[in-house]
Amino acid sequence: MKKIFILGASALQIPMIRLAKEKGLYVYVLDYDAHAVGIPLADEFLCISTIDTVAVMEAAKKYKPDYVMTSTSDMPVRTVSWVCEQLGLKSDIAYEDALCATDKNRMRRRMKERGVPIPKFYAAYSVEDFIGKSRIFKDRFVAKPADNAASRGVVLADTRNNTSVKYLREIYAYVHSFSRSGVVMVEEYMDGPEVSVETFTVDGEPHIITITDKMVTDLPYFVETGHTQMSRLPEIEQADIRRVAIDAVRAINMQNGPCHVEIKATSKGAKLVEIAARMGGDYITSMLVPLSTGVDMTGLCLSSVIGEPVDLTPEYAHGSAVRFIYMPDTAADGKGSAVIKTVEGIEEASSMPGIKEVKMYKGVGDEAGPLKSSNDRLGHVIAEGADADEAAARADAALSAVKLTYG
Ligand SMILES: Nc1ncnc2c1ncn2[C@@H]1O[C@H](COP(=O)(O)OP(=O)(O)OP(=O)(O)O)[C@@H](O)[C@H]1O
Ligand SMILES: [Mg+2]
Repeated sequence: MKKIFILGASALQIPMIRLAKEKGLYVYVLDYDAHAVGIPLADEFLCISTIDTVAVMEAAKKYKPDYVMTSTSDMPVRTVSWVCEQLGLKSDIAYEDALCATDKNRMRRRMKERGVPIPKFYAAYSVEDFIGKSRIFKDRFVAKPADNAASRGVVLADTRNNTSVKYLREIYAYVHSFSRSGVVMVEEYMDGPEVSVETFTVDGEPHIITITDKMVTDLPYFVETGHTQMSRLPEIEQADIRRVAIDAVRAINMQNGPCHVEIKATSKGAKLVEIAARMGGDYITSMLVPLSTGVDMTGLCLSSVIGEPVDLTPEYAHGSAVRFIYMPDTAADGKGSAVIKTVEGIEEASSMPGIKEVKMYKGVGDEAGPLKSSNDRLGHVIAEGADADEAAARADAALSAVKLTYG
């Protein structure tokens, strides 16, 4: 019986764990959380952090898995690539390239080398360095940690009305607190609609699966509040987006498997926000892609890892949408957070046409905060429709039916 290590046992990995079992594999799940919900579905659980490269490697030497994989978070991508490389297992991306796909500073440098369109950028290594580099931008710029995710610490600095050093120091302190390495990126602000592109690479050849329109919060924070498939941008812009996405996948030398590419359609053409060498999160690959195309990305990933042929052909072109439930800024009432008092309308929303799922992550009595990162979201609704507009309208209607009060 072939053995597989699946890094991560949270709810996100459950479809992969299930599928691996269905395929007759002996499944080890690895997670730092001994209560992770996916553990009971696997054959064995190893209590190891998915980003502890050394410990994962030791376990791999001991249990000798035939395959090692992860699903939708960034840092374990590095671990998988390191372990596969060291143990001589089939590797979808070289470790050096995996670093470029997970560290925004390396990523920007690599893309620049390969001629992929990106914003003007600098890496700042201290507060003085940050202040100096931010002055290069005349009015506004984006500051973000070089190595975090879920939009944690990503902020738009506006120096049109506030040029004080105090303001810049505050921004640096905020962003720096989310940077593991301490490096803060300073970037030109790219204006325009944002999309993500799901790709799948087979033997070094990238293919586009879908383009997804993104909804992002009002400035100065950038948190995704919804996604809609298929993109409704004009075809000429989508062609440009596809080109940039493919070039970005090639730039990280992806050999096999999924990439999630985030792109802004600016007035000067498509430019890369970032690329991840993994499936997109936010239910994009687990729910929206199957609903709008019939393509089972989880199945594709597992087949690719275990060397089965993959079929990327879409079955249909429908619409799908996710909308996130979150607390409006006004509910915090200056205190920075509030407690959820009531949640109503879940059943009503669930029974509306085209609604596939309504889920709350938090409930009555839980504390909620304004939306500064994806972790502040309170729940979601997912809808399908004949096309993107119908799916979006249905998801929006269900979202309005869910009513929360705060105290
Ligand atoms: N230079 C930029 N110009 C305009 N918007 C940007 C820029 N950089 C980041 N953003 C916005 O901030 C969001 C989050 O940035 P980024 O993807 O780099 O961080 P992240 O923490 O990896 O996010 P996530 O994990 O949510 O994808 C982007 O989706 C985009 O909306
Ligand atoms: Mg991102």
